[in-house]
Amino acid sequence: MSKIRLGVNIDHVATVRNARGEKYPEPLRAALLAQEFGADSITIHLREDRRHITDSDLKKIISKLRIPLNLELAATNEMLKIALKNKPPFICIVPEKRKEVTTEGGLNLNYKVNFLKKMIKKFKENKIRVSLFIEPNQKDIYKAKLLNADCVEIHTGKFCNLVNKNRNFKRELKKIKKIVNFGNQHGLEVHAGHGLNYKSAKILSKVKGIKEFNIGHFLIGESIFVGIKNCIKNFKKII
Ligand code: PXP
Repeated sequence: MSKIRLGVNIDHVATVRNARGEKYPEPLRAALLAQEFGADSITIHLREDRRHITDSDLKKIISKLRIPLNLELAATNEMLKIALKNKPPFICIVPEKRKEVTTEGGLNLNYKVNFLKKMIKKFKENKIRVSLFIEPNQKDIYKAKLLNADCVEIHTGKFCNLVNKNRNFKRELKKIKKIVNFGNQHGLEVHAGHGLNYKSAKILSKVKGIKEFNIGHFLIGESIFVGIKNCIKNFKKII
């Protein structure tokens, strides 16, 4: 049994489907298979431009899934309404820029603070677990606490890039360890995600205090070669 929960992000099943405007491969099928093969939660990011997951995917997945759905969304009125209508058990608030290929960094917690407060309050009134996607720094831990979030998810993109390029990642790892500790001391559950593969997940799984990994792009890509069952099994073994 792995100590750290594995959240499987299936956005890129939808990316492949949308590339040809077809109905396959279906994100719902991926979500149900991931559930069957040991995922602890399923993550989807409903982007403003709907470039991968659509509103219809969200509806189908939430109605059929038995493990928790973690809905990633931007701090906008539209997303607030959609989330309150569908009531996923977990929400992760992420920054969003139209032109980015993927979520490039953590949230700016100095921006739209009143809106973030309102959003988090509404989610918590609806018993939804709220996480904030942040860069590994102390001031964002303080701010997440002040905003009354339950969890923070640390953006691991920089760390993963260093690992992938065989560069020295020790400083970045030290920073992440410190922030995980700091988050836990402040009563926040700490998650990690972005850019993780077998190698980076293995290194980060040794960091005490991380409760959940959210992994998407590598996991879906690797599943083409080894199958989603084996890929999830491999990740569960590693973490
Ligand atoms: N966590 C968050 C908050 C994300 O925005 C993403 C990317 O959508 C991930 C995890 C997963 O990143 P990746 O697809 O690189 O594994």
